[in-house]
Amino acid sequence: MKKTFVKLQGPIAITTALALSTVLTACMYGSSGSNETNNTYQQNGMMKMQDKQDGDTAVPADYRSWPKFVKTVDKVKTAQVRELYINQAGMKTQRGDDFPSGTISVMELYDAQKTADGKAVMDKNGRLIKSKLSKIFIMEKGEGWKSKQPAGTIDNGDWIYSAYLADGKTPATSDFAACRTCHLPLADDDYVARYDEHFDVYKR
Ligand code: HEC
Repeated sequence: MKKTFVKLQGPIAITTALALSTVLTACMYGSSGSNETNNTYQQNGMMKMQDKQDGDTAVPADYRSWPKFVKTVDKVKTAQVRELYINQAGMKTQRGDDFPSGTISVMELYDAQKTADGKAVMDKNGRLIKSKLSKIFIMEKGEGWKSKQPAGTIDNGDWIYSAYLADGKTPATSDFAACRTCHLPLADDDYVARYDEHFDVYKR
């Protein structure tokens, strides 16, 4: 394609170049674009994140290829298994620091297999057995988002919360105050419940 492009001269070359750049721009900004492209816009040559509020983070398409935040979490009492993921921006964090702007944390909530009388079934290693995915919980952080939340929002720094059913599209709740209330006591760990465990796993 490059070679043909070089051979073209004069107005034809310009028309072709224009047509091509239109197609490229459409690809970059079209709805099929990556999540990152949709969430950001260009300002003074720097990528700036759009302000978001609770419920605004879509399920990132590729989160299952992200690093695990901690090892699989078994919730025996409620018969649930949870898988936690973190994006690359968050992975750069050092122990003792807050997570940077651009961090996305995804937690999958699975039902665990249960016996007929409703107790969680253990495998031979004493672990729960994952059954179907029920919900996807997300925390995302953007610089200055704390000041962009509606009046009365429980302060969780620059984090916002979103939650979906297993289809990844249907909102699972609109009660984000519940998320914020439970994560609030974790302020010393940047509101992240498994903060210490994460740095223990990765030894950073
Ligand atoms: C009852 C307390 C409670 C509520 C309510 C709660 N969380 Fe959490 N959250 C936790 C705990 C505890 C963990 C650590 C994983 C575990 O042990 O289940 C966690 C972990 C997370 C994580 C993974 C990062 C981390 O903190 O370790 C995300 C993302 C998350 N919660 C999002 C949400 C969202 C979104 C909501 C609301 C829809 C919510 N949480 C409501 C207690 C809560």
